[in-house]
Amino acid sequence: MAHRTGSSRARAGHAATHVAAPAHAIADRSPAASGHHETRVHSTTTPAESSTSLQNCQEEEVPPRPLPESPVHPALLSSAPFLTLLGAAAGYSSRHSPSSPAPPLGRTRATSHHQPPAMGAEAEAEQLNGPGPVVVPAPRPRKGLASWALDLLESFVVRLAHDKSKTLHWLSGNFAPVVDETPPAADLPVRGHLPECLNGEFVRVGPNPKFVPVAGYHWMIHAMRIKDGKATYVSRYVKTARLKQEEYFGGAKFMKIGDLKGFFGLFMVQMQQLRKKFKVLDFTYGFGTANTALIYHHGKLMALSEADKPYVVKVLEDGDLQTLGLLDYDKRLKHSFTAHPKVDPFTDEMFTFGYSHEPPYCTYRVITKDGAMLDPVPITIPESVMMHDFAITENYSIFMDLPLLFRPKEMVKNGEFIYKFDPTKKARFGILPRYAKDDKLIRWFELPNCFIFHNANAWEEGDEVVLITCRLENPDLDKVNGHQSDKLENFGNELYEMRFNMKTGAASQKQLSVSAVDFPRVNESYTGRKQRYIYCTILDSIAKVTGIIKFDLHAEPESGKKELEVGGNVQGIYDLGPGRFGSEAIFVPKQPGVSGEEDDGYLIFFVHDENTGKSEVNVIDAKTMSADPVAVVELPNRVPYGFHAFFVTEEQLAQQQEEGR
Ligand SMILES: [Fe+2]
Repeated sequence: MAHRTGSSRARAGHAATHVAAPAHAIADRSPAASGHHETRVHSTTTPAESSTSLQNCQEEEVPPRPLPESPVHPALLSSAPFLTLLGAAAGYSSRHSPSSPAPPLGRTRATSHHQPPAMGAEAEAEQLNGPGPVVVPAPRPRKGLASWALDLLESFVVRLAHDKSKTLHWLSGNFAPVVDETPPAADLPVRGHLPECLNGEFVRVGPNPKFVPVAGYHWMIHAMRIKDGKATYVSRYVKTARLKQEEYFGGAKFMKIGDLKGFFGLFMVQMQQLRKKFKVLDFTYGFGTANTALIYHHGKLMALSEADKPYVVKVLEDGDLQTLGLLDYDKRLKHSFTAHPKVDPFTDEMFTFGYSHEPPYCTYRVITKDGAMLDPVPITIPESVMMHDFAITENYSIFMDLPLLFRPKEMVKNGEFIYKFDPTKKARFGILPRYAKDDKLIRWFELPNCFIFHNANAWEEGDEVVLITCRLENPDLDKVNGHQSDKLENFGNELYEMRFNMKTGAASQKQLSVSAVDFPRVNESYTGRKQRYIYCTILDSIAKVTGIIKFDLHAEPESGKKELEVGGNVQGIYDLGPGRFGSEAIFVPKQPGVSGEEDDGYLIFFVHDENTGKSEVNVIDAKTMSADPVAVVELPNRVPYGFHAFFVTEEQLAQQQEEGR
């Protein structure tokens, strides 16, 4: 096959961003960053000052923070803070029905021709609902004079504020959404062979707006069912409360994070408030996009965005996907839910958190293996920050208080993006015993300022907690609403090892790669445990994935490297070749568990060829990182660049069927 790999194609100077998610990579790549260096900083290990009482947290309804869908990394897009910015606008409590004359969507109203599968699922979920955890969103938006007047006002201002002649990067080329869903397309052409361990469903979510955004930027799951060497492709929208309402209106109606810049950002916030006030839009069920990441826990596949509750999506035997509804853990979940929860493979528990722009700025939750959500644990941090990911070890949870601050005033005053990085502040890492009932025992460590979208893994080694992460310096999110010409030059994102000594309070960090790598994945049988191999995507200057890189943590990085090349701790690079771009690669082991070799398995990911306009799923050998893929599945449709992926095993699919929801 025509791919070059294992080779050493240069990647220096490339920007690091999320695919289709500029926010993800925004980091100034200082010359010093080219060489590997180690930084040691003594921690300020501060005892936690627990503030909000558990009781308070339980009683107080934390407003949700639905956020817009946009190609900007949902981290951004979804930032909880915005929501509360909307005042009461966003507050939604499951199953509460507003007194609006409009019939609830999703119950009595037939929607578009794309809907039948979802409607069936909704009916199923509804039957199953009762007091159960899956809540079928049934928002009641309203058309009328207010709706018409607000649309008119919005279109007038958008026309004044936006130059439509400029092409928006994140809506162009293969970043552009596909409009139609694809029902299961079976027996796709396969070059090579699909190994038995790949029986299951490979899923990837992304920012695929169904309706053209009104201004700047602005959800769909693309999946491949693999069974006994045969492949079926399907794409379905996640039927969120937001999507249902936009389908009702036949157009985009919700604010998007990409709009939140300058005075225009303030205007768009006001527009959303007015649509709420005049009941044009219904926020009872949130307005998240479920477009950021996917995870499987307790028999449920969930589509996540950090501004909302999880959406449960059922995988059918033929590979089709049905949105069942929102998961609120028997009404115990009243705050946002990160797109990056962690499942401990040894205990089957799930650990998660949500962040907000109001205290408590961060709330930690443990979900038992039986799917029960334990009481909230408020995490005390000084102010509202974007907190996209966290990490777990066998005994601890790690929170990241990084100085990417929520700054609505500066947005309006200085015409900036609503999140602003403060280079004068330190990066803080809080390590809490993972079953703690409050944050009194949390220990905070400081390291040089940075921002982090994604952690690879963490574990304990003697007195130390080790975190492997993708670190950005000086992220500037101002370009998230950029036009096509706004390349993300001078941004970088490097692999780092960070160590926190629980005995001495010392913290240190060591650079493990040059720029630009992100979307780190590992063999998830080792989540929270010491492991060796990290698989990342290589990102170019316009946030496209040009290859997959494998790091060996047992090897030292080669000093003086200016670009990503095989050698040192880089054990292999699967280069996609000119004009070909990929997406997050998921490691699928040949054998589950930790008894075999950690890297004995495959990496599976989507690839789009801009030369031919065709998309594929590639499967490569994770052990050898050979240039010859194990399998290439030709897809019937273009698959836009997106965010995170996940692999649901055959066993999980069966468990899901037994669960029934
Ligand atoms: Fe992410």
